[in-house]
Amino acid sequence: MAANKKLLILPGDGIGPEVMAEVSRVIDWLDAKRRVTFEVSEGLVGGASIDAHGTPLTEETMAEAHSVDAVLMGACGGPEWDDLPFEQKPERGLLRLRKEMDLFANLRPAVVFDALADASSLKTEVVRGLDILIIRELTGGIYFGEPRGIEDLPGGGRRGINTQVYTTDEIRRVARVAFELAGKRSNRVCSVEKANVMESGVLWRQEVQALHDEEYPDLELSHMYADNCAMQLVREPKQFDVIVTDNLFGDMLSDEASMLTGSLGMLPSASLGPEDSSGRRKALYEPVHGSAPDITGKGIANPLASVLSFAMALRYSFELDEDAALIEGAVEDVLAAGLRTADIMQPGKERVSTAAMGEAITAAMDGRAG
Ligand code: IPM
Ligand code: MG
Repeated sequence: MAANKKLLILPGDGIGPEVMAEVSRVIDWLDAKRRVTFEVSEGLVGGASIDAHGTPLTEETMAEAHSVDAVLMGACGGPEWDDLPFEQKPERGLLRLRKEMDLFANLRPAVVFDALADASSLKTEVVRGLDILIIRELTGGIYFGEPRGIEDLPGGGRRGINTQVYTTDEIRRVARVAFELAGKRSNRVCSVEKANVMESGVLWRQEVQALHDEEYPDLELSHMYADNCAMQLVREPKQFDVIVTDNLFGDMLSDEASMLTGSLGMLPSASLGPEDSSGRRKALYEPVHGSAPDITGKGIANPLASVLSFAMALRYSFELDEDAALIEGAVEDVLAAGLRTADIMQPGKERVSTAAMGEAITAAMDGRAG
């Protein structure tokens, strides 16, 4: 089959290279067994790029990211680069990718696999069967708003400034993604902001409601304050289906949601741009977890979030739903068979390394593919 599907892999820092090696294993399996062939290039981002090139993202890598069908990223950041000036930090590489590719819609599904229902710190009955989708606005809000900076005050002391800002178009385009995806699920969207204290939240609520009334009146829309949502997520998470929220609240609520599933090591994500004239979206797929410097190099990181992120790439960038389902099914199988990386280890289960988990996944794919 022609290699017409282009992937750029950016392993990044910390455990990024370790978990992305297991994604490569799955890609190789597809190539060998399913004849789904990808043209794969690799690049540097974050601290790895700083060390090699003095910048968290080179122009060449940025251009490559624009040209491929999907970017697969590991993680970036680490204590080695903590003292760099703000604009040179590893995280700026990732934020630049998101901004320049216009990846405004960040899909963060939190799904509780049956085998892990009792690995959550919450009661099993509260999380069993949970399947929610957080849609985080990713290119606006306080992450990018101007003015920003740290300034000296005339009388001594300093002032740190960030700006939360959203426009009608920014709100509506991410809300539209939420409504479209909810239409394929259980038709329910909860929009989350702080309209009680923030004007940007008032506008958010009004625009989401207006878009709903104009174009999606058959879907069920509710609104919730972000602090209440944080509380409801641990009180009764199954009340939610699709949650749509801004960049900062989405960052926090998705970390919170990850613990419903047992571990931050389980949560994948997809970041999508606007559709171009041929219906194609720029896209970046990455685990929600970070670079985890405390466990780097030990071979114990959980590769499931990045493998599941690759499954999202198959679904959203390549319409290879069957292959995506094969990978997701294999993840279910290895968990049901009792294999656990350290972060999801439970009594009586078999603790395995990052690589052993990756091998088990391709073996389970073998089993499923027959
Ligand atoms: C995430 C991360 C990033 C963010 C960091 C690494 C910049 O926490 O993707 O959730 O804050 O968006
Ligand atoms: Mg985060």
